[in-house]
Amino acid sequence: MDIIHSVAALRERLQREPNNVFVPTMGNLHRGHIELINIAKPRAACTVVSIFVNRLQFGPKEDFDRYPRTFEADCAKLRDAGVDVVFAPDEREIYPEPQTFVVEPSDLQHVLDGAVRPGHFRGVATVVLKLFNMVSPHSAIFGKKDYQQCLVLTNMARQLSLPIEIILAETVRATDGLALSSRNAYLAVDERKEAPRLYQLLSKARDAIAAGSRGYQAIELDVMAELAHHGWKPDHIAVRRQSDLKEPQGGDDKLVVLAAARLGKTRLIDNVEVTL
Ligand code: PAJ
Repeated sequence: MDIIHSVAALRERLQREPNNVFVPTMGNLHRGHIELINIAKPRAACTVVSIFVNRLQFGPKEDFDRYPRTFEADCAKLRDAGVDVVFAPDEREIYPEPQTFVVEPSDLQHVLDGAVRPGHFRGVATVVLKLFNMVSPHSAIFGKKDYQQCLVLTNMARQLSLPIEIILAETVRATDGLALSSRNAYLAVDERKEAPRLYQLLSKARDAIAAGSRGYQAIELDVMAELAHHGWKPDHIAVRRQSDLKEPQGGDDKLVVLAAARLGKTRLIDNVEVTL
């Protein structure tokens, strides 16, 4: 496994290996990330993983400084997973000058997580486009745990005619249902015990919708109330269309229930799809 820090060295290494598949990450790797790598590996001769905590996608009051950085442990996991190239640039390598050209992800950046985290999806789209241009993969893998991010990046690839196939992977969960996330490390012991409630309530909402319930607003409010009752501060619970995260109309049959809520100081997100 080659660990590469500069764009120039990356380009040189990948010139020998143009058939490559890419998994971008911010490190602090867990089984969710490793699952993306397992999906990537059979698709190309060379699997490239990036580790870069992207300041551009964090708000000024968000957790950029305390985001867990575990580079040595990450590299051991990537070696075990059979990754060929790790790209771990520092900030000057990605942003050698102020980033004045950015990718604006249409109206998707103003709803749900975008509304709570202004500029977040602009930061994500901009860094992912830059990383795509550095790696030049034929495919890239993203996890549905970050559902809105998946949509932003799929739309970016399509609308900007990128020659890259975007592949989406199912959310990997702990045995109690909690979606794996680097931010779970922030949870205190009692919060970690409470955290699976988010997925339990989303699953309940999904089952109600699958069973024929169409009172989406009532379902959203029920989940919010239940979370608040157990000490959470929900940002949003929303039943939306999978295709564009707009509110469902009569004939829509592919839906997703999205959640973002704070437990103590930790903001957790999750979602479940439901097809009618
Ligand atoms: P990060 O949070 O490190 O996640 C990297 C990739 O792993 C993303 O595609 C994310 O959706 C996926 N992932 C995280 N937890 C997962 C889980 N439990 N199951 C399945 N996939 C999971 O997402 C980012 O980094 C950044 O925004 C990035 C795309 C790297 C741009 O900076």
